[in-house]
Amino acid sequence: MKKILFTRKLIKTSEDYASQLFKVKFNIDDELLTKEEIITQSNDCDGIISTVTEVFDNDIISKLSKRIVIISNFGVGFNNIDIKAAKKRNIIVTNTPDVLTEATAEIAILIILGAARRATEGIKYARNKNWKWSSNFLIGKELNQARLGILGMGRVGRAVAHRARSFGMKIHYYNRVRLSPDLEKDSVYHDSIKSLFSVSDFLSINCSSTKETKHIINKKTLNYFPNGAVIANSARGEIIEDDSMIEALKNGKVFSLGLDVYNGEPNIHPEYLTLSNVFVLPHLGSATYTTRKAMSDLAIDNIREFFENGNCKNIVN
Ligand code: DGY
Repeated sequence: MKKILFTRKLIKTSEDYASQLFKVKFNIDDELLTKEEIITQSNDCDGIISTVTEVFDNDIISKLSKRIVIISNFGVGFNNIDIKAAKKRNIIVTNTPDVLTEATAEIAILIILGAARRATEGIKYARNKNWKWSSNFLIGKELNQARLGILGMGRVGRAVAHRARSFGMKIHYYNRVRLSPDLEKDSVYHDSIKSLFSVSDFLSINCSSTKETKHIINKKTLNYFPNGAVIANSARGEIIEDDSMIEALKNGKVFSLGLDVYNGEPNIHPEYLTLSNVFVLPHLGSATYTTRKAMSDLAIDNIREFFENGNCKNIVN
């Protein structure tokens, strides 16, 4: 039987399933493991199930035991892993696509709405019991008839578009590759981010985090937006350059911002927490039982499939 290290706790029934397939080393307390702990604890293992909270850079990958042949990442994003360094060591990396698309799109819509309709301020007033209704109270931005730019029209981007259409939004998108007409539907393709941002009354960030997308929202590109845009990031924190965003939130270029993901999680730039036009959630994109269970099972099945067939459909390197 192959031996697998689980860096974090997964859904209980999935862990039970894994116990039938492999010798398992679970993280019972669910405490974050240090690099050294990952290296020593995986020393006698054949594979690792990792999550977004562990960084597998070149340094740690080069120190892993030669026995490790697979890192199965719990998540569709795998920017926490240096996949080239893994490849050099003949370690395959897998992810868990598809199963989290709908849950993540729901959170994308929540942060768009939370930012547009001033939920941070509204919740504070309501909880402090110090509000009075008035026709001018907490006036927000309406989604109906507004243009929604989607940065990254993959599975999650398209699921956001599907939901946003029912709010009456007009969909625009930028993607590395233009979608086929059946996927594009009524959405308008832009061949540059400048063109997309310039029509984005709202922007939903749904691209993956790569060298090319790191800080793609920055001082220069924020100027492309219409004044008073609403921006929401449910992808990865690294896509936004925080200092420029904070300046734009203060001077009104950006009306409001919805965030589920951050640079250097679990830290959040302290100014985001003091600005009333920022709506924050703690990386809840895939956090429903159905989705987390499906992700847990898929992360396990990726390893099972790999050891059974010497291959796996969700390899990313
Ligand atoms: C993902 O799969 O990338 C989600 O953000 C969960 O980490």
